[in-house]
Amino acid sequence: MARRMFDLLAVASWSRSFAYALSSDAISVSGTPVNASAPIPEAFVSYSIEFAFFPDFAGNSSLPNTFSNNLLNNLGDLTGTKPYIRVGGNTQDYALYNASLETATYGIVNPKRSVDYPTTLYIGPSYFDSYNTWPDTKFIHGFNLGLGGNTSHPEGWETLLDTVPLACKALGKDKLLGWEYGNEPDLLSTSSQGAVRPPGWNESEYVAQWLNGTRAIKSQLATACPELLGNDTYGYLAPSFAGTNNHLKYWTTWQDGLNADHDIKLISSHNYIGGATQPGVTLQGTLMNHTSTVHSISFQVNESNYLSSYGIPFILGETNSLYNEGAPGLSNSFGAALWGIDFNLWCASVGIRRVHMHMGTDYRYASWQPIQTNKTTIGTKPPYYGNIVVAAMMGNLVENEVQIANLPLEDEKEAAYAAYEGGKLKRIAVVNMRQYNYTVNGTSAVLNPVPRPEQEYSFRVPDYSSKKVHVQRLYANGSDAISGISWDGTSYNWELDEGKPVKLHNVTVGETVEASGGFVKVQVPDSTAVILNFGKS
Ligand SMILES: *[C@@H]1O[C@H](CO)[C@@H](O)[C@H](O)[C@H]1NC(C)=O
Ligand SMILES: *[C@@H]1O[C@H](CO)[C@@H](O)[C@H](O)[C@H]1NC(C)=O
Ligand SMILES: *[C@@H]1O[C@H](CO)[C@@H](O)[C@H](O)[C@H]1NC(C)=O
Ligand SMILES: *[C@@H]1O[C@H](CO)[C@@H](O)[C@H](O)[C@H]1NC(C)=O
Ligand SMILES: *[C@@H]1O[C@H](CO)[C@@H](O)[C@H](O)[C@H]1NC(C)=O
Ligand SMILES: *[C@@H]1O[C@H](CO)[C@@H](O)[C@H](O)[C@H]1NC(C)=O
Ligand SMILES: *[C@@H]1O[C@H](CO)[C@@H](O)[C@H](O)[C@H]1NC(C)=O
Ligand SMILES: *[C@@H]1O[C@H](CO)[C@@H](O)[C@H](O)[C@H]1NC(C)=O
Ligand SMILES: *[C@@H]1O[C@H](CO)[C@@H](O)[C@H](O)[C@H]1NC(C)=O
Ligand SMILES: *[C@@H]1O[C@H](CO)[C@@H](O)[C@H](O)[C@H]1NC(C)=O
Ligand SMILES: *[C@@H]1O[C@H](CO)[C@@H](O)[C@H](O)[C@H]1NC(C)=O
Ligand SMILES: *[C@@H]1O[C@H](CO)[C@@H](O)[C@H](O)[C@H]1NC(C)=O
Repeated sequence: MARRMFDLLAVASWSRSFAYALSSDAISVSGTPVNASAPIPEAFVSYSIEFAFFPDFAGNSSLPNTFSNNLLNNLGDLTGTKPYIRVGGNTQDYALYNASLETATYGIVNPKRSVDYPTTLYIGPSYFDSYNTWPDTKFIHGFNLGLGGNTSHPEGWETLLDTVPLACKALGKDKLLGWEYGNEPDLLSTSSQGAVRPPGWNESEYVAQWLNGTRAIKSQLATACPELLGNDTYGYLAPSFAGTNNHLKYWTTWQDGLNADHDIKLISSHNYIGGATQPGVTLQGTLMNHTSTVHSISFQVNESNYLSSYGIPFILGETNSLYNEGAPGLSNSFGAALWGIDFNLWCASVGIRRVHMHMGTDYRYASWQPIQTNKTTIGTKPPYYGNIVVAAMMGNLVENEVQIANLPLEDEKEAAYAAYEGGKLKRIAVVNMRQYNYTVNGTSAVLNPVPRPEQEYSFRVPDYSSKKVHVQRLYANGSDAISGISWDGTSYNWELDEGKPVKLHNVTVGETVEASGGFVKVQVPDSTAVILNFGKS
């Protein structure tokens, strides 16, 4: 900071006419990948769907949820692969199989344990029909370790044995991405939703139970779906720890032989930036804050460094803004969409290989509400627009080798990234996270009389001396908006065309800026994001 001020003053005092007076204020962007990630694997933008609510999101063969499918297609059209879907979460460790149940699920909400999901959950045979509704989609199915590994709940182990054949037949080679045995086992002995392990439960006990369960899954597969036992199809994501400093440690778990059978394909960690009711959590201070994102992900960066010698990709198998399903006014606002862009691109830049954004029916942080309920209107929610921008920044990951690099900025209320394709700069994303409310005190009756400030960003792009750069913008009236969002003049809202892209007529598109003399400048209003596209060089 001090250094830059000095440069600016020095240059200004020499002569204002020097063309490069601006250059000390410009952000340098290398034309080739520097400090960039390794090429990003396909389906970087993926989802995790709460086990109990998967039938709401997917529907079934007779009534497929085409709205969800449209939203998944939009992302697939941008990145070349539809998002991968992990079906799991807390309710995966409550799910018990009832062969006589005629509905997909039968859940009982116990408000003392959670108001947001059932803590008693039965699934019937038709649950697995929900895997038949989305074409060209790959899934991870989560099995119950919470009850399955506790001999006081024999119905848990019975569920494991009974449901492996149902899940493997529903998925088959084309849809199966992998298996998971247990969600956040590091919380099983302390969970505020009800502990199912004694307090001293440790890594070696966990490992023994995980190996016991996964071997049982393997032997059930050998009978029901032997074609799924090849190295290309059989494998797990694990340990799916809640991620922060809980009493089971990643490293110890690996030392204790979690991967003794060499069947872990992905090291999965979970992450939330903060809690929905945690004191002091705000949009600007917690979500629209690059420092907070970097700090939150530093845990995963450390773990993935420790574990890198195993050579297994490290992903976030479940993540979102604020745990306990998000906070209204924060997790469901446009500000959360901006957070999601910074969060996902930061993860990509530091070597997290895929990010599964978590959601459930009525969850405040969900990218979309798949059905109408008496709590939440069906529809595309702000976080989805953040997912779209991340996908646009990635581009087609099947056809191109895409690398993402963070471009350090001075203020924690902003972030910028570069995307390289085949080793050449192709896109720059800027997220201006300075909070701009369009309402006063959160009531749309009083509109903010203060005009929306904007920031100018100047990038030094040495390889582009003269070039038209295409600008795409993510726009809403303010960070407190929960509707009226557009990306590059397009809406994906349910009420327009069931989530399919619709060009809006009230938003300008086709904007360009000129890269000249190796510099490109763009104006970015507070609480918006842009992508600069350098196109073919
Ligand atoms: C690369 O990253 C390191 C560590 O964050 C930093 O010190 C260095 O300045 C970066 N180099 C460039 C060219 O951005
Ligand atoms: C499919 O889902 C609909 C809506 O939830 C439900 O009414 C119907 O019974 C389900 N069909 C089957 C065969 O499970
Ligand atoms: C299983 O479902 C059937 C049909 O709904 C019901 O009669 C039975 O009580 C259920 N069993 C359990 C253990 O919940
Ligand atoms: C595997 O777990 C089941 C259920 O908890 C238990 O009955 C069985 O004894 C375990 N097997 C081994 C080898 O630990
Ligand atoms: C089994 O689950 C109960 C809760 O239902 C818990 O109190 C107990 O500690 C668990 N026992 C073991 C050995 O995991
Ligand atoms: C883990 O718990 C088991 C069973 O109580 C015990 O035998 C073992 O020594 C413990 N391991 C560690 C490292 O504390
Ligand atoms: C599958 O992978 C395991 C562990 O890496 C290896 O030992 C085995 O030979 C492989 N099998 C095949 C058929 O490639
Ligand atoms: C951003 O987050 C960091 C780390 O949590 C915190 O120290 C800082 O005060 C936050 N910034 C704002 C503007 O709240
Ligand atoms: C809302 O819907 C749920 C689930 O269908 C139902 O149990 C509950 O009674 C409904 N509440 C109101 C106020 O209608
Ligand atoms: C907004 O809230 C503040 C603090 O409660 C209050 O002083 C102010 O008058 C309110 N403004 C409007 C327009 O309601
Ligand atoms: C925006 O609104 C929130 C909630 O009403 C308030 O806490 C915050 O201070 C406002 N921020 C700005 C920059 O006006
Ligand atoms: C543009 O039109 C859409 C759909 O009618 C609306 O939701 C949105 O608020 C409008 N945007 C602006 C900037 O007026």
